[in-house]
Amino acid sequence: MINRKQLIKKYLDFFRSKNHKVIPSASLVPENDPTVLFTTAGMHPLVPFLLGESHPEGPRITNVQKCIRTGDIDEVGDESHHTFFEMLGNWSLGDYFKKEAIEYSFEFLTNVLEIPIEKLAVTCFKGDKDAPKDNEAAGTWESLGIPKQRIAFLGKKDNWWIAGNKGPCGPDTEMFYWIGKNTPKGNVESNPDEWREIWNDVFMQYNKTAQGKYEPLKQMNVDTGMGVERTVAILNGVSDHYLTDTFLPIIKKIEKLSKQLYPQNQRTMRIIADHVKASVMIIAAGIKPSNTEHGYVLRRLIRRAFRYAQSLDIKTLKSIAESVFPIYEEDYPELKNKKEILKILVDEEENFKKTLQQGLSKFEQIAKQSKNKTISGEQAFLLYQSYGFPIEMTEDLAQEHKLKIDLESYNKEQEKHQELSRTSSAGKFKSGLADNSKQTAKLHTATHLLQAALKKVLGYHIQQKGSNITSERLRFDFTHSEKMTDEQKKETEDLVNQWIQESHEVKKAEMTPKEAKESGAMGLFDDKYGNKVSVFTIGEEPNNIISKEICTGPHVSNTREIGHFKIKKEESSSQGVRRIKAVLE
Ligand code: SER
Repeated sequence: MINRKQLIKKYLDFFRSKNHKVIPSASLVPENDPTVLFTTAGMHPLVPFLLGESHPEGPRITNVQKCIRTGDIDEVGDESHHTFFEMLGNWSLGDYFKKEAIEYSFEFLTNVLEIPIEKLAVTCFKGDKDAPKDNEAAGTWESLGIPKQRIAFLGKKDNWWIAGNKGPCGPDTEMFYWIGKNTPKGNVESNPDEWREIWNDVFMQYNKTAQGKYEPLKQMNVDTGMGVERTVAILNGVSDHYLTDTFLPIIKKIEKLSKQLYPQNQRTMRIIADHVKASVMIIAAGIKPSNTEHGYVLRRLIRRAFRYAQSLDIKTLKSIAESVFPIYEEDYPELKNKKEILKILVDEEENFKKTLQQGLSKFEQIAKQSKNKTISGEQAFLLYQSYGFPIEMTEDLAQEHKLKIDLESYNKEQEKHQELSRTSSAGKFKSGLADNSKQTAKLHTATHLLQAALKKVLGYHIQQKGSNITSERLRFDFTHSEKMTDEQKKETEDLVNQWIQESHEVKKAEMTPKEAKESGAMGLFDDKYGNKVSVFTIGEEPNNIISKEICTGPHVSNTREIGHFKIKKEESSSQGVRRIKAVLE
């Protein structure tokens, strides 16, 4: 038997013993990455380093990363899908490669987790026009004692990993554990239902360009991922993730409140447990329910969970949410704000209660009048707009009434609604990668200059609240309570352009967060940093420093590379927070 905490400890201790540095889990909401809403894999926050930037902790990294995948929201309800999960991983950033990575995986599985060799099978990449068959990986497995008949060679669909559709990628080798009743037999191809994946070693050696070309990366990397919930379940001989310590306390709470039993209400209870857990973690990352982007994902989760809770006669999600804390609070400092997190959740629930009953009556009316057993897009959109029903919820209701929804026309309705189209049509629920082009490097450096200029023009109370960079523009949120005047905007712009023209050097140094703080670098200095951070200094030490800031980059090496800086918009972002959008011309 092994529980969540034990698995995580064993993993991190093992890789520490192999000279890896343990870094903290990054935020669920990626900073400076406009291509995704949430962190979807352990490698996500490491993309700049996989592309060649040097990591302050060195080339061997390990951690347990909080992740959210929203692509599967409607699949939640079976025994193994969930929205929030934790992923263990080890990374080589241009250091060791295939042979060592596989040897480490094998040693951890057989020595530390004590899995008998007969219960292991692997898959390797079978080769195609972009990359050759991975005989090296297969040969390494064989040399370690995995018999030939347990090795299956599969194509890109199974043995190739890329986040989104461009960026670092490569062939992978996946490890499987025998969950069948009898003596293990065959391999993943011949007995797919009896072998369950537990770990994935990706050999990142290519960069897929926007044109679909595979170019060799500057450095060869290893990226591995082991899902905590799944591995704990498998090692305990259960296939239902909700029966392990990562979910069971939440399920027990739901049973108690509803006075119903899990075996009779599996789907409903799993959805409630999953959505409430994910909501708590998303709120803890600083998100509030809203109608756009992250806030809308959160809103959908809370509302859907609440509707299912009501179907079990549970009046509030509050104590279900409380049961999430003991599972994770020792590991994630952001859960310390328990009271505020619960309040945000309960407020949203209260908000929704006001329209839920009326919305449900409206739905009944729509259902009765539906033609061809189909609810039109307009009606589904009306339920969203006037009663706050997320589409998944209307889909659940339709399914219960054996009706369909015309999703195509719903999407059209939604696109008309400008605010929402930004969220749902942009494919942002899928994963993708930050763009590390030269243009984004310029915008990153410009953002540091902007912050420095705002402090000079508006005062030292200015604090960064958020930053989001695409290859077209930067967006910077900061604390300030008044609208900026035209003069202040001009002064800020002029100052940034002056610094650009003065051709200041941008230097990067690596140090501990303590040293960074003592040296006067700006940063958040909470528990989020690892042992080492990168500090970017613009200007000349000691007397002519314009900006000194902790950041993962990328940056240009001299401000003159930036071009001409222009503020396009200054507006309110939320109470006490202003937002600037700016471009380079
Ligand atoms: N990025 C790979 C995955 O998510 C390995 O970490 O499976």
